[in-house]
Amino acid sequence: MTQPFPDHPYLTGYYQPFGAEMDAPDLVIEGRLPEGLAGTFYRNGPDPLHPPREGDRYHVFDGDGMVYAIRIGDGRASMKNRYVRTRKYELERAAGRRLFGVFGNPRFNDPSVSPMEYNTANTHIWPHAGALYALMEGCPPTAMDPDTLETKGYETFGNTVTGPFTAHPKTDPADGAMHAFGCGAKGPGSTAIRYDIVDAHGAKRHTAWLDQPYASMMHDFALTERHVVFPCLPVTISLERAMQGLPVAAWEDGKPAAFGIMAKGGNGGDEVRWFETDPTFAFHVAGSFDDGQDIVIDVAGSKRAPLMPSADGTLPSHQDTRFTLKRWRIGGNGNFREEEVDGLDIQFPRIDDRVQGRRYRKAFVNGTARPTAGRIDGFDMIAAIDVETGRRDGFSFGEGAYCGEPVFVADGPGEGEGWLLALVWDSQKNASFLAVLDARNVAAGPVAKIHMPARVPGGFHCHWRPAA
Ligand SMILES: [Fe+2]
Repeated sequence: MTQPFPDHPYLTGYYQPFGAEMDAPDLVIEGRLPEGLAGTFYRNGPDPLHPPREGDRYHVFDGDGMVYAIRIGDGRASMKNRYVRTRKYELERAAGRRLFGVFGNPRFNDPSVSPMEYNTANTHIWPHAGALYALMEGCPPTAMDPDTLETKGYETFGNTVTGPFTAHPKTDPADGAMHAFGCGAKGPGSTAIRYDIVDAHGAKRHTAWLDQPYASMMHDFALTERHVVFPCLPVTISLERAMQGLPVAAWEDGKPAAFGIMAKGGNGGDEVRWFETDPTFAFHVAGSFDDGQDIVIDVAGSKRAPLMPSADGTLPSHQDTRFTLKRWRIGGNGNFREEEVDGLDIQFPRIDDRVQGRRYRKAFVNGTARPTAGRIDGFDMIAAIDVETGRRDGFSFGEGAYCGEPVFVADGPGEGEGWLLALVWDSQKNASFLAVLDARNVAAGPVAKIHMPARVPGGFHCHWRPAA
């Protein structure tokens, strides 16, 4: 048995734990699914099996990974969801209670557990070379069967990835290779970064090592045709802080932002040029590309990290940390410029993955145009934003709707020719559906809604795997 969950904004409402696994063979579809839309929409997110340990505080980044797979084909749809069977999940399920501190904070760990076993596998779900990886940046990828969602265990790529691995790899359209990195790769709080390239067949092709200026929590990075860029931004990791009862990961005022630039496929070390600038923040990169001698990186950016406490444990307000679509331009001489592309309050930006690393036009986001004071996560809108003209093509699902990350599914040769898929929770009906929108005419609203058999809690990242 488990104990009641505490009253916490990320354990109630949109984020109330669901705690059940389902198989639904034939879902109700409203509207008409596009012809030829065939494949699986995956989503990962936190669904804590147990409440935090006594005295510990929950964080939305911390719940056990629950993967949803919604399969679409022949005008029909089915779904299943499964917990990722991490070692942490299995140990805590057997114990009937939580054994690990939030973020694996050793101060709160049960003496029976090893810090090395802390893996929530809850952040992204990434198909590559026939495999499917549940990703959480502190650990190697956790492989799952793409059809059954059975957990297979860590993928270490021939023992070369035994520690952190980003939740945001990039697939290079030039050759299908997966570029990734591990932050804190020589232990929590270390400045070491491991840069990985896994080829289109799933074989590890390249490993390089570099050091960032300080131990930041690097969540995402940028890949262009010629470069990789590692953003070191002022959310730091400190075990010393954690042992004093303060946050493991915290925003540190006064730290500069720094960008490490290296040739794509480079060897790390001295090949990385680091440029410092004023503090800025982003969890997520939209598109990125080389523009002459400049590198352009579009992000969901904010002046200070949301959801992350300051080093003294205090939390920021939403208004101080709201994300908008911003363009970072890093000049060949290292000078840095930031400008806003669109002032919409957004959460997760995505692109047509066929233009990953290339000059592009469309960023796809979930966001809200409503006042957001005091609000946690009420993103009622899906939008396509033209990053050259600033034109926004959006659709709001209305009062009480919570949209997740939109995923682009190609259906035509040109950039942005295809569909946007996003999970939506209607809080007034306490029901969820997968919305299918035309990426070329988002404002027209969904062409189809695939209704889920039960509410789907708020989550993180999604991916599409086309049918074979
Ligand atoms: Fe992320």
